[in-house]
Amino acid sequence: MMLNDLTVLILAAGQGTRMNSRMAKVLHRAGGKPLVRQTIDTALEIAPPERVFVVVGHQAEQVRAVAEAAGVRAIHQQEQLGTGHAVMCGEEQLSQLGGRLIVFVGDCVLVQASTLADLAEAQRISKSAAAVITTEVEDPTGYGRIVRGPDGGVLAIVEQKAATPAELAVREINSGIFCFDAPALWKYIRELRPDNPAHEYYLTDMVSIFILAGLRVTALKTPDPNELLGINNRVELAQADRILRERKVRRLMLDGVTIERPETVTIDAGVKIGMDTVIGPFAQITGDTVIGENCRIGASSIIEHSVIGDDVEVFPFSMVSASILDAHAHVGPFARLRMNAHLAEGAHVGNFVELKKTRLGANSKSMHLAYLGDSTIGARTNIGAGTITCNYDGHKKHPTTIGEGVFVGSNSTLVAPMTIADGAYIGAGSVITHPVPLKALALGRSRQVNKEGWKKRAT
Ligand code: UD1
Ligand code: CA
Repeated sequence: MMLNDLTVLILAAGQGTRMNSRMAKVLHRAGGKPLVRQTIDTALEIAPPERVFVVVGHQAEQVRAVAEAAGVRAIHQQEQLGTGHAVMCGEEQLSQLGGRLIVFVGDCVLVQASTLADLAEAQRISKSAAAVITTEVEDPTGYGRIVRGPDGGVLAIVEQKAATPAELAVREINSGIFCFDAPALWKYIRELRPDNPAHEYYLTDMVSIFILAGLRVTALKTPDPNELLGINNRVELAQADRILRERKVRRLMLDGVTIERPETVTIDAGVKIGMDTVIGPFAQITGDTVIGENCRIGASSIIEHSVIGDDVEVFPFSMVSASILDAHAHVGPFARLRMNAHLAEGAHVGNFVELKKTRLGANSKSMHLAYLGDSTIGARTNIGAGTITCNYDGHKKHPTTIGEGVFVGSNSTLVAPMTIADGAYIGAGSVITHPVPLKALALGRSRQVNKEGWKKRAT
């Protein structure tokens, strides 16, 4: 859908006062991404990165970082003097590009690339100086109103604060998204004046300026007002988040993922999931997680920034964070894997087991109540219930290495740094402080003493 004469300018310099936040509005997240990132990604579907720009101002450094991480450039707006002023700040960099310029408000995250392409097409066919996306809403409060002449043509956009009672009754609103003929925009933009109650340079005034100059302005009226929701407060943020997540889940289902009770799951935009995987209710799958085919992610599990192979089963209420699960691994219920934990093929981790920076070898098992930290564990090893790697001495973390085919008895305490060689056997209840050699039996506990008849003497 790339259009090669198109530049996109995203306006993201405002504070977003109505968010009541210390953080700039466009840095708030919906669908798992900062709002400004969402609009950048949409822009990148129709224009190459060297033709996408973001106007930054409030918390400029953080917003600029989001733009640059997406491979696009930022333009600085020192003072936020209005949407028209924000566009003026781009004149130096953009005017030589020619062609057409889409101005996209950074808080309209639900607009889809196909709608921007339709807008560009409407501008091209009508040979207008500007085309604007509009829609009819039940309650137009806060939006700019579209004023049409007797022949139905667009004459002006009037902002809420400047509107007459008759204009306030208009239910057709400005989305804030324009496609300009760039030479016409740069020719006339200096005619904008802050002669309104807010003393701002309103981009919307370009419409009456063009009409006065005898140029044409076209409105592309969309039937779906949802797409144009501008996020101004946290209620609208939650609405946008819900819609973005519905879209993501729908796309996954159409691509062959089963999602049980889809309205309850939270899946970020960047997540990839293979065919025939089943996602249980209330699962949360976030960041850049990749899940293979034919997996099962149990109810209420949380998977963040992780890579999961095929045929993996994560039972309910597990948390997997920045970790890797190879094919046929099993996790949970109630397990926690974090900080680069890695289950090799067919490894099993059961309930109330925590793995931190630990690799559990192929077909090895730790089924109940264990803490395995900073450890490397070989294949076919069994870690008994209640095993603890004591990886922290109060100052530093120390590693534990356990070989292949080892049997660690229940309730063992392995004091790191520790090495247990292949085939070793640790007696249950041991405190192991010295390395255990190949195939040795290690017992680190006092021998049981039975005192015959003790009860009778004691009483
Ligand atoms: C704007 C439109 C309004 C439209 C509505 C749609 C104007 C004057 N009004 O109003 O007609 O119905 O969007 O959602 O354009 N920004 C800057 N620099 C500034 C001011 C704003 O970059 O100096 C950015 C903001 O960060 C924001 C966007 O522009 O992302 C829109 O600003 P906002 O204050 O939300 O405009 P609205 O009052 O919603
Ligand atoms: Ca807005």
